[in-house]
Amino acid sequence: MVSKAVLPVAGLGTRFLPATKAVPKELLPVVDRPAIQYIVEECARAGLDDVLLVTASGKSTIEDHFDRLLDLEAALEDKGKTDDLAAVRDLADLVSIHSVRQGEALGLGHAVLQAEHHVGDESFVVCLGDDIVDPRTPFLERMIAAHHRTGVAVVALMEVPEDQVHLYGVADVTPGDEPGEYRISELVEKPPVDEAPSNLIVVGRYVLPGSIFPVLHDTPPGRGGEIQLTDALQTLAADEPIVGIVLDAPRHDTGDKLGFLKATVELAAIREDLGPDFVAWLREWLETQP
Ligand code: G1P
Repeated sequence: MVSKAVLPVAGLGTRFLPATKAVPKELLPVVDRPAIQYIVEECARAGLDDVLLVTASGKSTIEDHFDRLLDLEAALEDKGKTDDLAAVRDLADLVSIHSVRQGEALGLGHAVLQAEHHVGDESFVVCLGDDIVDPRTPFLERMIAAHHRTGVAVVALMEVPEDQVHLYGVADVTPGDEPGEYRISELVEKPPVDEAPSNLIVVGRYVLPGSIFPVLHDTPPGRGGEIQLTDALQTLAADEPIVGIVLDAPRHDTGDKLGFLKATVELAAIREDLGPDFVAWLREWLETQP
């Protein structure tokens, strides 16, 4: 059974300066919870009970967010604020949180490699924190089920306009066994558009076999001088199939300011408590805009 998720969270968050000078990017709130909480909640919903944060100096508040905070809990209890108390306490029970330091920022493949000791030779999930998948869809469950069925690496895919392929890992595919599934024959990290094998890109969800670790050890620096997970998967693809599943749910990319704003609007709009009032206000406000 896949039970562990690895979340690389060591990045500097420079695209969000000055907000990220003292606060990790992963803790910037989307509506009323930090972006990283959506990812950990997604992992918990998919049945994962162990989350390893691959972190860096200055980021220990991410772990604090998922820890008990007894003084706050006592104060909320005294005031009879039961909903707030549950929101704070339940967070610490979502999953068991662990962390390891990346030390040097040598790329996504290097970040995943830091999980080797914790994960061992089990299969595991990698979730990238910039991508929030619509919380109403069990997409990660579907990826894990596909891994259990096939025993091989499974990655999430999405079509993007051609002028965006250079920002992602790009897959060359042939049809797979199930609708929406592909067999990946080649993966290229951030190719120029004229070298991209398709416009199907890798989104930030992976289910990987433990056999990725020895491959990562032998993966030399690639695009940007960094050890790329995409390159390790490409090596793996020479020996065993890799399955790609097209993400059939909205994905919110919080990696840059515009994406972050859109994610905030979209995730507020689908909330039962806030959505109707927020959307009504947004409609009215848009009418006032030139
Ligand atoms: C990483 C991966 C890339 C993938 C992307 C998804 O890139 O290296 O293959 O397509 O995440 O968001 P990054 O966005 O960290 O540069």
